[in-house]
Amino acid sequence: MFQFFLPKNSKINKKGKVYPAPAKAKNIKRFQIYRWSADDKKSPRIDIFSIDMDNCGSMVLDALIKIKDEIDSTLTFRRSCREGICGSCAMNIDGTNTLACTKSIHDVKGDVKIYPLPHMYVIKDLVPDLSQFYEQYRSINPWLQADKPDLPDKEYSQSPEDRKKLDGLSDCILCACCSTGCPNYWWNSDKFLGPAILLQAYRWIVDSRDNKTSERLGALNDPFKLYRCHTIMNCTKTCPKGLNPARAIVKIKQLMVEREGV
Ligand code: SF4
Ligand code: SF4
Ligand code: FES
Repeated sequence: MFQFFLPKNSKINKKGKVYPAPAKAKNIKRFQIYRWSADDKKSPRIDIFSIDMDNCGSMVLDALIKIKDEIDSTLTFRRSCREGICGSCAMNIDGTNTLACTKSIHDVKGDVKIYPLPHMYVIKDLVPDLSQFYEQYRSINPWLQADKPDLPDKEYSQSPEDRKKLDGLSDCILCACCSTGCPNYWWNSDKFLGPAILLQAYRWIVDSRDNKTSERLGALNDPFKLYRCHTIMNCTKTCPKGLNPARAIVKIKQLMVEREGV
């Protein structure tokens, strides 16, 4: 049902379909796009689409939508907001995990090479299976756990200083670019939570309104869940929102030392 995508040694049949540009097009850009479907029982292939850029928007997502609308309606990818907010159009473009809707075509020299997020099972074309990623997110209880009774008519207040501690954390859109760019997540994704989920865990750990800090840290105190991170920093380099998951992981480790009283 799924194709496991390995960027280095996947058996990609390079001879995919080639779609020429429209006859009178002068400003042409080529897009090499990974294609695979469980339905056709064939190896993955790379299709090449030549697009008239005088009739296409400037972002990679614009080209994908144009290809789907005008050339091959079976091309499959996720997207929703088109504004870098939902995280659903995350994919590997020009060798980097990023968001198709905020990646400018003009920033790519030569052909635009588009693959699904690396080292994930692929459901179809550019759509990775994120079930495990969301299961890991669920495992950190990503919601406010306050000792106070529910306040149906009020908000849980927070000082501006405490709110500031969430900057760079609550901005995470869970696109998974960082986790799927982390070599330790590639090889241990069944046990290592990965940078995105650890950044989210830290977001709740430092929330002044939450009263489960110690329990949250205790749940992460595991040789794989947290300590599999070896500070390689790929995660921070690739985040399309400019966040720093590696720093969040270091902060959790520091809090862990304080909690253990080492
Ligand atoms: S930290 Fe950045 S790359 Fe990672 S999931 Fe959040 S927004 Fe995406
Ligand atoms: S710092 Fe390196 S090992 Fe740690 S989560 Fe980021 S990419 Fe992975
Ligand atoms: S479509 Fe929502 S982030 Fe790209």
